[in-house]
Amino acid sequence: MINDLDGDARLIEEIQHLKKAKNAIILAHNYQLGEIQDIADFVGDSLELSQKAAQTGASVIVFCGVHFMAETASILCPDKRVLLPDIHAGCPMANMVTAEGLRGKKEEYPEATVVCYVNSTADVKAESDVCCTSANAVKIVSNLPDEQRILFIPDQYLGYFVSNKTGREMILWPGFCPTHARIRSQDITRLKQEYPQAKIVVHPECRPEVTALADDVLSTGGICRFARDTAAVDVIVGTEIGILHRLRKENPDKRFIPASEQAVCPRMKLITLETVLWSLQEMAPEIKVPEEIRLRAKSAVDRMLEVV
Ligand code: 13P
Ligand code: SF4
Repeated sequence: MINDLDGDARLIEEIQHLKKAKNAIILAHNYQLGEIQDIADFVGDSLELSQKAAQTGASVIVFCGVHFMAETASILCPDKRVLLPDIHAGCPMANMVTAEGLRGKKEEYPEATVVCYVNSTADVKAESDVCCTSANAVKIVSNLPDEQRILFIPDQYLGYFVSNKTGREMILWPGFCPTHARIRSQDITRLKQEYPQAKIVVHPECRPEVTALADDVLSTGGICRFARDTAAVDVIVGTEIGILHRLRKENPDKRFIPASEQAVCPRMKLITLETVLWSLQEMAPEIKVPEEIRLRAKSAVDRMLEVV
């Protein structure tokens, strides 16, 4: 154990040294392992991370998250080197829609505006009109003209939530997040009996029967703000359990109860101190979106960033 700690301290020291030498910044998603969140320059949700990437003066971005997040950084910052420490860190939901599949659907609904959840590949964004994240999806959809038909891809549960919130009917793509789908309404009901004073906050990727039981439905960044601001001591958290590290660190006097211990995103956990160090040493794997795709995808991302 002492050796492991020594090992981690050595890795962290080398990472910090290389980060400085290469003018790199480490961005980490709220679901990353605790040790990765702790060495990051910034920890946040998808929207906050893309905004950070767009603003940074660093020459290298080490993106500790999943593939679509690093791609979004590359779309916004073509002149920077974007590294994803493990190339296998993909988001299964993002792969539930392809550019070809989307083109087919657009032929079916040529009048529809395509609202694309940022959890999607650059090719799919390039076929879309406007992007959204879980933090701004309601706002993006509300901003579209009332009579505008909307095709929402790829998350049917986020789409359902937004449709309910805005009263807008939408054509929903049948994608979903396998991690959030593991959270069941029975889990929430049982925990609420055990912790009757607890507030319940969940991510909009959860099933509708789960979001229906929550006090609030928020992005991971929104969940962190909710945790800070609530007067409740006990909070039941319905999202990927990596977020508990940050919630507990920032709110040591509150108790955070995971809605389900099964809510683990295995691809997020592929990024480790070792892979971050290796990535900085090798300047790989680099994520670079081809220019023709990037420009088309960027217009959908820019349209989102103009609204938020
Ligand atoms: P956030 O944008 O809320 O961080 O969500 C990203 C994600 O992948 C949730 O599963
Ligand atoms: Fe994708 Fe779900 Fe993992 Fe988020 S938690 S990255 S949506 S698989």
